Amino acid sequence: MPKKVIAIDGPAGAGKSTVARIVAERLNYLYIDTGAMYRALTYKAMIKNIPLENEASLTELAENTEITLFSQEGQLKVLCDGTDVTQEIRDPKVSKNVSLVALVPGVRKKMVRMQQQLAQKGGVVMDGRDITTIVLPQADCKIFLTASVEERGKRRCLELAQKGYHVSPKKVQEDIDQRDLLDTLRKVGPLMQTPDAFLIDSTGLSIETIVGKILDRCEKGE
Ligand code: CDP
Ligand code: CDP
Repeated sequence: MPKKVIAIDGPAGAGKSTVARIVAERLNYLYIDTGAMYRALTYKAMIKNIPLENEASLTELAENTEITLFSQEGQLKVLCDGTDVTQEIRDPKVSKNVSLVALVPGVRKKMVRMQQQLAQKGGVVMDGRDITTIVLPQADCKIFLTASVEERGKRRCLELAQKGYHVSPKKVQEDIDQRDLLDTLRKVGPLMQTPDAFLIDSTGLSIETIVGKILDRCEKGE
């Protein structure tokens, strides 16, 4: 079977990275977490004390940053200029700032270019916010994955606690709401559902059920 391109978009905490990774494993495809790329750049900007409203500096930083994603023992590893930043990019402080960096058109241009190159040979599952619309509009299978705001908040809270970050549910919810708003309203590459993307509302659905739905949809060639 020829290797396909699968594109998944949706808001924070919808389950995208979890299910995208499993779908990629089942099909023996490459999984590309584009959010991790924006997070890595944001982390670098924070370390370098670059003001996040300085679009020119952030664009220059993006142009001069090398981000590498690879899988190691089933875990996604993220390198930024050769340094492993896999843990650091999940810090709530990075989550708070990432949507500001992702607003910058010059940053998005560089990211989109890198992501399109990664998908060139097919056999890829890519998730993010603008994958079905801007990065891979011709993908063989397009999914828009969402869930209720409450469930997404609860999931993210649990996930952070498991990673040792104890943030109040209220704070987690505020962060998600704020990010969803910025991601949906920005001018370049906003999060949106296109008519040709298959909608999956994952509220109350198990991870395995969502994976099954995506695999079914892709097998049908839609
Ligand atoms: O995992 P979570 O849903 O919290 O977010 P993520 O996928 O790691 O993405 C972090 C942030 O990066 C998003 O809130 C967006 O601001 C930005 N992003 C984007 O603008 N475009 C993408 N294709 C992927 C992420
Ligand atoms: O990538 P995105 O922000 O869309 O979500 P994620 O990071 O894949 O999922 C957020 C959390 O929700 C993870 O801890 C998942 O294990 C969990 N999750 C869940 O409990 N039930 C689902 N049906 C999907 C995700």
